[in-house]
Amino acid sequence: MQTHKMQQKTPDQIIHISALSTIVGASNVLTEDLQSYELDWRKKFEGRALAVAKPKTTEEVAKLVQYCATHSISIVPQGGNTGLVGGGTPDLSGEQLIINCSRMNQVLDVDLINNTMTVQAGCVLQSIQELAASNNRLFPLALAAQGSCEIGGNISTNAGGVQVLRYGNTRDLVLGLEVVLPDGQILPLLTGLRKDNTGYDLKQLFIGAEGTLGIITAAVLKLFPKPSAKVTAWIGLSSVPAAMQLLTLVKSSHSESLTAFELISRRAHEIVLRHIDGAREPLNETHPWYVLIEVNDSQKQDRLQESLSEALMQALENETIQDVVISQSEQESRNLWALRENITEAQVHDGKNIKHDVSLPISQIAQFIESADAQLEKAYPGVRPVNFGHLGDGNLHYNICPPLQGFTEAQWMAQWEKVNTIVHQQVARFNGSISAEHGVGQLKRDELVNYKSAVALNTMITIKKALDPSGIMNPRKVINSA
Ligand code: FAD
Ligand code: MLT
Ligand code: ZN
Repeated sequence: MQTHKMQQKTPDQIIHISALSTIVGASNVLTEDLQSYELDWRKKFEGRALAVAKPKTTEEVAKLVQYCATHSISIVPQGGNTGLVGGGTPDLSGEQLIINCSRMNQVLDVDLINNTMTVQAGCVLQSIQELAASNNRLFPLALAAQGSCEIGGNISTNAGGVQVLRYGNTRDLVLGLEVVLPDGQILPLLTGLRKDNTGYDLKQLFIGAEGTLGIITAAVLKLFPKPSAKVTAWIGLSSVPAAMQLLTLVKSSHSESLTAFELISRRAHEIVLRHIDGAREPLNETHPWYVLIEVNDSQKQDRLQESLSEALMQALENETIQDVVISQSEQESRNLWALRENITEAQVHDGKNIKHDVSLPISQIAQFIESADAQLEKAYPGVRPVNFGHLGDGNLHYNICPPLQGFTEAQWMAQWEKVNTIVHQQVARFNGSISAEHGVGQLKRDELVNYKSAVALNTMITIKKALDPSGIMNPRKVINSA
């Protein structure tokens, strides 16, 4: 990786760095080789920070924020830096402090009767899942970045992932929060209560706020029983309406056991087969669309396998689906999941594309795809949409690759806004949202004003100004409140 040396600091900046070092220790204030903190995962946004501070405790976070508030230094909270909308990337001023929470990785409590886990914000999602599993529990938030994203980042983006259909978004998995406010006060909401009607539910403000209202330092998470049986199926289909028919069918045959229902286009699948080592075609024939289904519950494994096969055999007979393979082991299930989870990584190797993370009423998905495909084809003949996503909860990742001829990567990236406008106008037409699960960050901040009501935007600005009157907490992310 290219290294970035420390930029020349002004005398004031040197004083600030020294003061911040007294709070967290000099070795935890980084000023050199900051690229992994200043550049986002997709390499779309890059900034320059004053420094990166890495606190270990809530008290250290509070002191850092108090110092910044007193000296008008703006702050960019950061977790695993896997976000896809530039929310955790500083601007180019070289004056913002990144507060990276990765050292705050302690599990504070596991309560197996209350079914909760209390964790610091820097705990890596996968480590939380593993600790839950070792206690015979499930923490159901699951996404391809789980090996590096952190729970503070997950909560701040209200991450979705592949099990929303059954367990909900991150918001549904959080019972309590501790937050350092933009003036450095600690807001203590770290309870494991399932009922608490004592006024406004303040924690909800910080969930999905993308670090604009405060720094989340700890959370109480809900745990669920660990399923004893799990079955995964990979299904070939001829069309999106057929996938929607299948969703209705499996919802009625398996109701709450249906955990994941993921849609994958042939083009998305081909990209994985091309770029990911070990990826293999699971079916004999190719199909225009695929669905990956997962069901899990507490019955016996063979019973669950049998019941899913029965439902899918019926779908084969009535030609809703064309072909299917059902996992016979944990390894087979993992192999099928890898075909879905590696799409994002494979797309990085396949060349630049224009990403969309949109939400639609499930009933409108097929019409949306048909209509957006047609509009794009009109504007860019030969354009190649790469479609995949969480069909079970109406969330499409509708990524657009250029026609095979006529565009360099840079020329295609220059079309970003025009392509976004075409796609997002279709999203609005079908009553959808321009951000389903990735958030707004910098990427969609300016576009949001075209799709959200003025009253909603003004209410957001009112809240931002009430909690952060000096505008130091992740400024110019989500909304322009200045
Ligand atoms: P960061 O990227 O560090 O930060 C994200 C935002 O949260 C920023 O605005 C930042 O300022 C803020 N923030 C971070 N920590 C804190 C904190 N402690 N307090 C306050 N604010 C904070 N997302 C999904 O929803 N579903 C998916 O299926 C999914 N799959 C992905 C797959 C891949 C391969 C990749 C690279 C990303 C994927 N993402 C997905 C996006 C990303 O992983 C999530 O948004 C994740 O929740 C971000 O966590 P993070 O710790 O990396 O946060
Ligand atoms: C996914 O579902 O794989 C993620 O949200 C990542 C992406 O959209 O690329
Ligand atoms: Zn997703």
